[in-house]
Amino acid sequence: MDQPFSAVKVTDRVYWVGAIDWELRNFHGYLTSRGSTYNAYLVLADKITLIDTVKPAFYDEMMSRIRSVIDPSDIRYIVSNHAEMDHSGGLDRACRDLKPEKLLASAKGVEALAEHFHWSVNAEAVSTGASLDLGNDSLRFIETRMLHWPDSMFSFLCSEGALFSNDAFGMHLASAERFADELDFELLKYEGGKYYANILLPLSPIVKKLLNKLPEFKFDIQIIAPDHGPIWRGDDVSKIIALYDQWASRQPTRKAVVLYDTMWHSTAQMAAAIGEGLTLGGARVSLYPLASAHRSDVASELLDAGALLVGSPTMNNQIYPTVADAMTYLKGLKPQQLIGASFGSYGWSGEAVQHLDALLNEMKVELVREGLRVKYVPDRENLEQCRALGIKVAECLPKK
Ligand code: FEO
Repeated sequence: MDQPFSAVKVTDRVYWVGAIDWELRNFHGYLTSRGSTYNAYLVLADKITLIDTVKPAFYDEMMSRIRSVIDPSDIRYIVSNHAEMDHSGGLDRACRDLKPEKLLASAKGVEALAEHFHWSVNAEAVSTGASLDLGNDSLRFIETRMLHWPDSMFSFLCSEGALFSNDAFGMHLASAERFADELDFELLKYEGGKYYANILLPLSPIVKKLLNKLPEFKFDIQIIAPDHGPIWRGDDVSKIIALYDQWASRQPTRKAVVLYDTMWHSTAQMAAAIGEGLTLGGARVSLYPLASAHRSDVASELLDAGALLVGSPTMNNQIYPTVADAMTYLKGLKPQQLIGASFGSYGWSGEAVQHLDALLNEMKVELVREGLRVKYVPDRENLEQCRALGIKVAECLPKK
């Protein structure tokens, strides 16, 4: 179906032809409160090239944007920087509709696309350092293996200094604006940080390595065009690279995150008293009650938190389900250099804090004490113990 969408000019030769997903609120378990975009780019060189596509449901929107600048049948090459379906979902149809001369991806991308679409399409593998001649321009490729999939790669358009970075430097943010310099930088820092924490945090050593290696390619990067969120240009290019360097370094600060859920408000009372102790000890503290808070917002806090305290009632000898959910998620993100403790109320057996201590140990969180348990309802002395725990954690946090 024809749709009324237009391409957005990024440079003389590059157009944004992606889609805006204003409705998205759940991106495989990550709360996307502000929606997202799936960015595809059209390079108007002699050999017209499409870089990445969109989720299948947005295929018509992408084609409408392409048609606003060219006849889609003029597309000669398609480059797939990343095989995840939010970028390759429209690729199968695009290949059938557009019949490009070449489809290019990394070697792992060629495998992954075949395994997604069960094709016999003739995709060509490119490796780091390879380039694609576009007639009056060229694209160069860098494999960015495991950032964040085995197939991920960057493409660089030499004439315009445009780095197409797939998920890297992106964020889930639906907006009418296409460029970072049209949006509030604090918002971009927040959403970019949330994206980093929820997608890239466990891969920080690889991010660091890539940032250190990037200058070796001698790319004069004028634009970073990611596959989600706004495009970085001008001063914003160095700003987002500096933020990635900071996030990948994960310097713990005097910030403590208290994550908990509660059945009859006992564990909640403990959390509040621990928070009070942390504040008295001079730490910054955020409490996340999981009845209303989302695991992906907690993950954002771990970009610079120094402490993680986790509270759970015992239910059927286990950690309370919402806390188990959040901890499974956070464990996978591998936050480093955290101190912490567990706490919780119980009625008769009280295993939750032991389970939490075991989990925190597996996450290499340095425990300041064994889990703090309170039977049924905390009394004044119990709450004083909680407050003391908060003060003790604050004492162990970095000084700034
Ligand atoms: Fe935006 Fe890894 O897909």
